[in-house]
Amino acid sequence: MTHPIDDLKTVRDFLRYASSRFAASDLFYGHGTDNVWDEAVQLVMRTLHLPLENNTLFLDANLTWDERHLILERLERRIDQRIPLAYLLGEAWFMGMPFQIDERVLVPRSPLAELIVTGVQPWLGNHHVERILDLCTGSGCIGIAAATVFDDARVDLADISPDALAVAEANITMHELGDRVRTVQSDVFNELEGRYDLILSNPPYVDADDMASMPDEFHHEPVLGLAAGHDGLEFAHRILAGAHARLNPGGLLIVEVGNSWPALEAAYPALPFVWLEFEQGGDGVFLLTAEDLAAWSAENQ
Ligand SMILES: C[S@@+](CC[C@H](N)C(=O)[O-])C[C@H]1O[C@@H](n2cnc3c(N)ncnc32)[C@H](O)[C@@H]1O
Repeated sequence: MTHPIDDLKTVRDFLRYASSRFAASDLFYGHGTDNVWDEAVQLVMRTLHLPLENNTLFLDANLTWDERHLILERLERRIDQRIPLAYLLGEAWFMGMPFQIDERVLVPRSPLAELIVTGVQPWLGNHHVERILDLCTGSGCIGIAAATVFDDARVDLADISPDALAVAEANITMHELGDRVRTVQSDVFNELEGRYDLILSNPPYVDADDMASMPDEFHHEPVLGLAAGHDGLEFAHRILAGAHARLNPGGLLIVEVGNSWPALEAAYPALPFVWLEFEQGGDGVFLLTAEDLAAWSAENQ
């Protein structure tokens, strides 16, 4: 019996083989790609350190034996152990930017990228953004992406996990943003100082039912980054309670709560949530102004 490696020689061969194997497997997609073909392209091209686009030049190039073994090893681990591809590659892409990733942090996938790239328009208007907080930062992807759009803003990346902050530090260094972006270890707002113009957050928001029924891929991600109590709102409650004291006038709070959005809206009938829409998919992201939060806090706290 021949081993597949004997029959696979070119980039095209490996793209075809990976696609067939993924298609015949019961994989969950949603950690950076959402289909068999994109997953195969990412596995093959990024293992070879080739670009994801404009790469047809290489399709008929032969791979070395080491390259063939590495792709097949990652393919088998993706299928057998359900490890998200981003962890096998050690990288993920967010707002078109590369980030170093490992199992200390969630794989970046927030729809907030689509909003950040617009400069948070039309919501911010001409409000000048001097300080940004990425709360529950994980890899730092949201705050680092924001720092490249708001290119004179100072950005705090806050997380309770020292492991996550070590990954965020590596990404600050990789993107050469150490003069404006820093990490802060903080339990939600507890260790933070001063006010911000923009608070962006993708906190844990998975409720107990979803935690119990997640596809295997999610079990490779840190529980600390996912679980948020029986209704998924543990962190949303804390963020809403503290945000008004952390925002400058004219500032914005933007938080992803995913599937927990109906529970959140039911819990806060007096808050005028704006639920954002995304062309590239994703929902459950709300926006509130500093003024909305101040008025609500004055009446309710
Ligand atoms: C859903 S992950 C989001 C990571 C990143 N923002 C992203 O979009 O990929 C949530 C993050 O919240 C952090 N976290 C959990 N509890 C926290 C707390 N009490 N205070 C601050 N961060 C916390 C976790 O360590 C994790 O990195």
